[in-house]
Formats: sequence, structure tokens, C-alpha cells
Amino acid sequence: MARVLIGFMGSGKSTIAGLLDADYVDMDAYIEDKLGMTIAAYFAKEGEAAFRQIEEQVLQELLAGNRLISTGGGVVMSAANRALLTQADQVIYLDADFETLYRRLSQDQVNQRPLFAQKSKKELEALFDLRQPLYQACASQTVSVVGKTPQEIVEEIR
Ligand code: S3P
Repeated sequence: MARVLIGFMGSGKSTIAGLLDADYVDMDAYIEDKLGMTIAAYFAKEGEAAFRQIEEQVLQELLAGNRLISTGGGVVMSAANRALLTQADQVIYLDADFETLYRRLSQDQVNQRPLFAQKSKKELEALFDLRQPLYQACASQTVSVVGKTPQEIVEEIR
């Protein structure tokens, strides 16, 4: 059964997954391949609800394998996904405070995140507050990532 990394946008899920296992699967990249377009383009075309449905199907599909999965930050919004996550061997929550995450997101020039682009800081913080207990409820291990190097985080997980 699969191991899964969860956490808010900017918590470093893909970076840590890559260091833990070079053969990890990035859910967002996997969905983009499947859709033939970026998540930002899909959000603009079909909306968030349609994206969440695809996210649910893909999580189910990937959990049936045994690879390490780096999820998108919104995966815990669906009750079906939260139930699915309880089937994984290990669910690791990369935990950080909102200000740290917001700073990282503001500095990220590479990833296009529709929710970050659309929401004010206040709205994003409300989303963070809503999601935090959901991440905690799904996690079998919580790792605080603030003030740590990626290597230190990986050591803590291993
Ligand atoms: C989302 C997070 C993104 C991506 C999509 C929605 C969210 O993934 O799945 O833009 O709802 O938090 P990252 O957490 O990898 O940025």
C-alpha cells in the first residue's frame, strides 16, 4: 500500500517526496498529464468542483499502487478522500504555520496555483484554518517543517 504526503500549498510536499523516493508520483503532475492541460487552465475552464472529482478518482487509482504519493493541498477537502487516506500505510502531514506558507507561496515563481492567484491573504488564511484539522485527522505522522532543511525533514520521516 502507498505512502502519502499531505499538507497545505507551499509545505514542500513535492520536494520532500523527491528526496524520500525518486520514484514518487506527484498527483498534480499526474492529473495534468491525464487532462492534457495545466491545473490552472482546467480550473479556469471547468471550475474547482470538476477538478476535485478528478482528484478523487486519481487518489483512488494511485492508492491501489505502492508508490509514494505527493498530493495536492486540497485533497483533504473531500470526505471520500479522507476515508481513502485511512487505507494508506502511512500519511505524513508536512505542517507549517500560515505566515511561513504564505511567504513561500508569494516567492514561488515556478508553480501556478489558481487558489493562490484568486484569493486574498485573508481568504487563504481562512482556507488554511479550515483545512488544518482535516490534515491532522488524516495524518499518521505530523512533521513540522518550519526552520528545517529538506534533509532534516527527510531524516525525521525515515
Ligand atoms: C490546491 C493545491 C495544488 C493543486 C491545486 C489545488 C489546493 O497543489 O492541487 O492548485 O486546493 O490547495 P499543491 O498543494 O501541490 O500546490
